[in-house]
Amino acid sequence: MFSIAVLVSGRGSNLEAIINKQKSGSLKAKIAIVITDNPNAKAIEKAKEHNIPYRILESSLFAGKEDFNQNLIAALKEAKVKLVVLAGYMRLLAPSVIKAFPNKIINIHPSLLPAFPGLEAQKQALDYGVKFSGCTVHFVDGGMDTGPIIAQRVVPVLAEDTLEDLSDRILKEEHLLYPQVINWFAGDKVKLIGRKVFVQEEEKV
Ligand code: GRF
Repeated sequence: MFSIAVLVSGRGSNLEAIINKQKSGSLKAKIAIVITDNPNAKAIEKAKEHNIPYRILESSLFAGKEDFNQNLIAALKEAKVKLVVLAGYMRLLAPSVIKAFPNKIINIHPSLLPAFPGLEAQKQALDYGVKFSGCTVHFVDGGMDTGPIIAQRVVPVLAEDTLEDLSDRILKEEHLLYPQVINWFAGDKVKLIGRKVFVQEEEKV
């Protein structure tokens, strides 16, 4: 089975969408471990509810940054994961972690990158006045939301949208897109050439 790790820091709605897909039998991967840096993350409750193994790795409890990084790498290797899925993980991964899993770490971001990277992407989009926004799944490199783009889904931004309206509309698309992309990886459909990502045709959303 294609084992994945899901890294979370907060609410965990993407984790839940992936779990639901797994429960329904349509995820071609298995969540081997959920890892959080936040002992209070709601996402942990979801892992517990579904009997998915989880680890809490709080960076402040380690001797130093590299000690934390090595422990994170060890936890991922121990779980024998083939893909590391960041789902609302609020820490930038260190170069040593990225190096340990080359082209095997992905993230989801609530904007059409490269527009509006970083925090509060939905607010950035509203404030800027764009007519469309969406979500992006991308490879994780050393930067902030800068890695090669794997897939995107687009939503309209309506004149009367509140921040909540737009965030909800984007989140619904995230929940569809992320499990789909995980299935692409499980089926070995994703090829990275330079910074361009190619997905084998029949599996496209
Ligand atoms: C999502 O909007 C995701 O795009 C961003 O963080 C948020 C996580 O939400 N990276 P959740 O914890 O999955 O509900």
